Amino acid sequence: MFNFDAVVPSIPYIFEGIGITLQIVIGATILGLVLGVLLALCKIGNVAPLRWFASFYTSIFRGTPLVLQLMLIYYAVPQVLDIKIDPIPAAIIAFGLNSGAYISEIIRAGINAVDKGQMEAAKALGIPYSKMMKDIILPQAMKNILPSLMNEFITLNKESAIVTVIGAMDIMRRAYVVGGSTFTYLEPLLIAGLIYYVMTLILSFLGRTLEKRMKRSD
Ligand code: ARG
Repeated sequence: MFNFDAVVPSIPYIFEGIGITLQIVIGATILGLVLGVLLALCKIGNVAPLRWFASFYTSIFRGTPLVLQLMLIYYAVPQVLDIKIDPIPAAIIAFGLNSGAYISEIIRAGINAVDKGQMEAAKALGIPYSKMMKDIILPQAMKNILPSLMNEFITLNKESAIVTVIGAMDIMRRAYVVGGSTFTYLEPLLIAGLIYYVMTLILSFLGRTLEKRMKRSD
């Protein structure tokens, strides 16, 4: 059933995709975190227009397919602005914008989940807002936020495989290209699957280690 002979010479070629995938995921994570924090601040703040904007943003980016957002950035935006954008930056922008929406919800929910009494007690003691946030609310919120944030990175890493539709030479696209040129699809696709799975395992392990470390600080 398996015929790895035709595919073995292409294994290093598929592995080179790891660098491209990581570039996209790390870039998108950084953009997503910055956006997510800003949007979360808008959501928990008391400036109504900013709150509306942040909710609207989240609803659009979570309410439409990521692959559509990716194609809009890669094909439609250059058409409108008359510019050229390469697949990797397009992917970083699309994934970052999308992830920002999810991350803002993770942060907002994490802060809201901190017991109300904590905030009331801090107010009763006359602790100023910024100090209360920094020393009382955020450290507790981090315990809710961190596991979900780790899940988001795992999702992002797996979802990054759709960049194959805009031609970025990531793990997924390389496996597909090898399949097409050797007429052997099963083996390269299994190799790609294995790479993604190992990446997921590593990310989950990092997540669990971080969580344990946070628990110890209690
Ligand atoms: N498949 C979903 C979509 O197309 C995934 C969205 C990305 N998810 C995420 N947590 N950033 O809408």
